[in-house]
Amino acid sequence: MLILGIETSCDETAAALVDDARTIRAERVLSQTELHTPYGGIVPEIAARAHLEHLDGLIATAMKDAGASFADLDGIAATGGPGLIGGVIVGVMTGKAIALAARKPFLAINHLEGHALSARLSHDVAFPYLLLLVSGGHCQLLIVEGVGQYRRLGTTIDDAAGEAFDKTAKLLGLGYPGGPAVERAAQTGDPARFAFPRPLKGRPGCDFSFAGLKTAVRQAVESGGDLSSALVADMAASFQQAVADSLAERTGQAIDLFKERYPKGKALVVAGGVAANTLLRRRLTGLAAQHGLDLIAPPLTLCTDNAAMIAWAGVERLRLGLTDALDFSPRPRWPLDPSAPKVIGAGVKA
Ligand code: KG4
Ligand code: ZN
Repeated sequence: MLILGIETSCDETAAALVDDARTIRAERVLSQTELHTPYGGIVPEIAARAHLEHLDGLIATAMKDAGASFADLDGIAATGGPGLIGGVIVGVMTGKAIALAARKPFLAINHLEGHALSARLSHDVAFPYLLLLVSGGHCQLLIVEGVGQYRRLGTTIDDAAGEAFDKTAKLLGLGYPGGPAVERAAQTGDPARFAFPRPLKGRPGCDFSFAGLKTAVRQAVESGGDLSSALVADMAASFQQAVADSLAERTGQAIDLFKERYPKGKALVVAGGVAANTLLRRRLTGLAAQHGLDLIAPPLTLCTDNAAMIAWAGVERLRLGLTDALDFSPRPRWPLDPSAPKVIGAGVKA
């Protein structure tokens, strides 16, 4: 089984071909970071236009890399949401057009499902597993029970973890995207210099909050006067420590709930761009070991936005016959677990 995957929900234009033997036959990602850098964040209109301009060429190149023609495909999977709607429309319309012209099944993939199942492309991991999804738009803890079966244990009530990194980087004058910049600055900093808050720590449940932490960084910046690079490094290190502590503490709560429901559950999976963070990985590795779980972190290229995870979700869905009709409408919002309580401000972006 060979699937073409298309991803256009945020600021990466991506196309990939993946087969059901878990081989990525071709993979192309075009980042728009340079286009958005002057604005300090993603501009949806610019993103949509860039997807439109580059997607066709990217798909053609990926097909050539894999030595495949549309006739060789078993299906076309495109991110159908959630995300910046202009970009999602570009990907969905392109996917539908190829499906129609080549007479192949079309699969509309929830971007979050792409992240949730990516560990099964890189690793031999069985359902159920616990997932910490930490990206620029999402911060969620989910039990992945099967394809299309997700139980949300917690989500952010304000900012996502990646968003907090990006906003902190802006406050510290470190540029965009913020995560890697903060991590770099933190390398020479003292994580104990500033006692930044650990929001929601000790409270029951698995929800996250980062807005208060961001405010604390702003206050420290405002009272810091001229920021020396040593001071910036200390702030970055203290902030990173607070985020890692919060994520680990909330994940610990979720592990208890996961174990209660699935005593034989074996794995904690981390996905999303923030999973690139070394300190976070170290904390999660320790936490998982402490609870007798394996920590599974897909390679970084599969953690950040990419089309291989979308193609793989297509493989998983097509195996179960879960195809979509060509009248599928792109969805700016699309919760993975519709039964989870609604949280104001959460789940808007991809
Ligand atoms: O999954 P992703 O590529 O895109 C979204 O779907 O959001 O995640 C991007 C996010 C950004 O907020 C970025 O600052 C963050 O992941 N990020 C990091 C690191 N690398 C990327 N955050 C912390 N440490 C990193 N090393
Ligand atoms: Zn994503």
